[in-house]
Amino acid sequence: MVKKQYLLYMVQIHTNFRLAELESLADLFNLDIDFSKYNADSPFFFVELDNDDQARQWIKRSILTKAIYEYWGKGETMEQLHDTIKNLEGFQTRKEQFKHSSFKFEFENFQGGKKKDMATKVKQMETFKYLNFEGKIDLKNPHETFTLIEEYESVVGNKAATVPLSYTFGRFVGSSDRSSMERYDLKKRPYKGTTSFEAELSLVSANIAQVKPGSLMYDPFAGTGSFLTAGGHYGALVMGSDIDGRMIRGKGANIDIKSNFNYYNESNKFLDVMTMDFTHNALRTNLVIDTILCDPPYGIRESIKILGARDPERFIGKENLVIDGEKAFLRKDYIPTKKPYSLDSLLDDLLKYSAERLPVGGRLAFWMPTANDENVETIIPLHSNLELKYNCVQEFNKWSRRLLVYINRGDTFNGPTNGGVQRSPSNFRERYFNHFNK
Ligand SMILES: C[S@@+](CC[C@H](N)C(=O)[O-])C[C@H]1O[C@@H](n2cnc3c(N)ncnc32)[C@H](O)[C@@H]1O
Repeated sequence: MVKKQYLLYMVQIHTNFRLAELESLADLFNLDIDFSKYNADSPFFFVELDNDDQARQWIKRSILTKAIYEYWGKGETMEQLHDTIKNLEGFQTRKEQFKHSSFKFEFENFQGGKKKDMATKVKQMETFKYLNFEGKIDLKNPHETFTLIEEYESVVGNKAATVPLSYTFGRFVGSSDRSSMERYDLKKRPYKGTTSFEAELSLVSANIAQVKPGSLMYDPFAGTGSFLTAGGHYGALVMGSDIDGRMIRGKGANIDIKSNFNYYNESNKFLDVMTMDFTHNALRTNLVIDTILCDPPYGIRESIKILGARDPERFIGKENLVIDGEKAFLRKDYIPTKKPYSLDSLLDDLLKYSAERLPVGGRLAFWMPTANDENVETIIPLHSNLELKYNCVQEFNKWSRRLLVYINRGDTFNGPTNGGVQRSPSNFRERYFNHFNK
């Protein structure tokens, strides 16, 4: 089959996550895409695909892409652009194909340029006269949209550049899912808290984790359910747990994780959430969990605790304590004792659990904080059955967090492992409060 050239127009935000998102979505839809010409510094990615449907399918879930276009031409000047368009293979056929379609022109500026007035737009549109489009110009509901993207150098001296570096022209084929960022914006979400994760990167995480419609996604550190929300948006049936019952109960009538799903009209994606210590996991072992996506406790806003006693000797002989004829630990008001735990051990447990519960090919994705204030190597947790597929870093001033994404490759994989090793150099919480925030 003859392939066609398409142009991806991407955002220049979270560029460390862009390729991982595009690759994961391509793999999810079984698309064979050549990423060798991908350039992390450019908002454009030229790629060959079979047809428009493939292009639309690939990009419709992307958060870090704006849109995908059928490529028509590119040049450093308008004259050069027109030359490349006229020399495009199959140019005459293309012209014929859209000759009678209703259409409109759109103008995009990347990194500069002024907003164009109508007269400038008309003047520029007229230079495309040779396309001989005879269809009606329809600004509201056109059949085809042709877009001219001008790319500028970011800043020249102290001023935004006025002369474009390049002009690219294409036919709009499909938009991304970027508009969902507004829909899931935390500002508008009924139930949220200090641990809630922002919409943009939680949706990106769900894409890189390859959350699939109709599959089961589990967040073992659900908190206010940001990742459950993102997973539900991409069609998974979601369930979560958290050791802190207050997170699960929410903030009174209709302000809880479930009510967020109602608010988004996605209640059919919400299975349930429960109060549970992840390290004492009660989910049946033969439950197939397709994806695990989470944000484990960093020990910043919530301490890392698991069930158990800090000083077990104190409880010897009290295991079967009875109150009013009822075993204490079976009473509704029973609050189990908790003891501190290390992030390293918790992440070891998470990897082990994922290796045991995910199907082969299933993904585990989670966020891990690292400190940048001391020159210490970041050691990424590894498990012999899990392939570390992505390590996408989001930098802050003195600390960073990274999305780690693993694929379960099964028992025969035999990858490197570092379970049981102390990886975090020193107490992250203490350093966060005493160093990073000053
Ligand atoms: C960084 S927060 C996750 C926030 C969440 N993504 C949200 O949208 O709010 C980590 C969560 O892990 C929970 N947690 C801490 N230790 C836990 C454990 N042993 N088992 C389960 N949850 C735990 C905390 O209560 C906290 O809600």
